[in-house]
Amino acid sequence: MDVVQVNSINSKNEHSGKIVVRIEYAALNYKDFIVASGRFGHLQTGYVAGNEGAGVVTESSNTSHREGDLVFVNGHGLGESLAGTLSGQVRLPPVAVTPLPEGMTTRDAATVGVAGLVAYAAGQLMGEGPIAVTGAMGGTGRVAAACYARAGRDVTALTRDINRAGILKDLGISTILPPLTEAELNEQSFGPERFDSAFDVTGGTLNWLTRHMRPGGTVALAGFASENNPNISALAVILRRLRIFGVHAGLAPSEKAQALHWVSKTLRSEDYAMLGHYADPDEVNELISGFGDKPGMGRIVIKMRR
Ligand SMILES: NC(=O)c1ccc[n+]([C@@H]2O[C@H](COP(=O)([O-])OP(=O)(O)OC[C@H]3O[C@@H](n4cnc5c(N)ncnc54)[C@H](OP(=O)(O)O)[C@@H]3O)[C@@H](O)[C@H]2O)c1
Repeated sequence: MDVVQVNSINSKNEHSGKIVVRIEYAALNYKDFIVASGRFGHLQTGYVAGNEGAGVVTESSNTSHREGDLVFVNGHGLGESLAGTLSGQVRLPPVAVTPLPEGMTTRDAATVGVAGLVAYAAGQLMGEGPIAVTGAMGGTGRVAAACYARAGRDVTALTRDINRAGILKDLGISTILPPLTEAELNEQSFGPERFDSAFDVTGGTLNWLTRHMRPGGTVALAGFASENNPNISALAVILRRLRIFGVHAGLAPSEKAQALHWVSKTLRSEDYAMLGHYADPDEVNELISGFGDKPGMGRIVIKMRR
């Protein structure tokens, strides 16, 4: 099914909020893949993908957002019950619209997007020692690993894509592990006490992670790219007194603003280009259908035509 209708406000959007945003950059994420593939249920008539994006406020009846403001938008039904950011314009309630920090462009904001929000949310609950980040060549893992590395943390990246992972070194990540074997993923013994925290987007790596955590460590579970029903050892969690918690990008508006501020202060300007794969609207259908199979491309950012 085609999921792009450029420059059309879906009628369902028109009555659902008070701020109109012209989208300059839409971002595609794993949720778009899940929705477009029908795993969230049947697609609604007029479905347009795009769970997030960044652009310019063109109309506002709310004092918190003024015409001309640069903003990031995500969630609140975008790309699900409401036409998504690939429609080129969205009308949203203020709660879904986050002002960009000084100096952050709409391209930068779409590049980090929900990955920046969730990396920030996890960082609020984790210690500051060595951290493992899984799915590090994918969109969320790559942004999280880069942010933690640029924040001065000792980051170990896990990826199946070791041949292309030099880009992670350029983002300041100190250690890149070769892909874990089936035996390692399923091992029952305890490994060295290596990580103080972990940020996991795969689910399927949890068993290995919990067996390599330091006592009292924290594991932020952000995704399930490989496994929604992971097999982990209760014994490892108990003996090492681990805390495993879920994190997601559905933050309060003030937290989203803080998250974008943190990202903009943490990343270097040259980092953004290494975090995203930039494409045109006519490539979207192929990009969405390729999620999950293809090598991680980083964040997928679509430059919208005016
Ligand atoms: N909690 C939230 O708010 C939030 C926000 C954004 C995303 N997510 C979730 O995070 C997950 C990743 O999303 P994404 O947008 O980053 O997707 P993505 O760009 O496709 O990246 C997923 C990465 O996971 C790794 N991976 C995939 N299948 C794997 C397998 N079978 N075994 C080991 N690793 C595998 C790969 O990393 P390598 O290429 O490095 O091997 C892949 O690039 C999804 O489950 C998504 O729903 C959650």
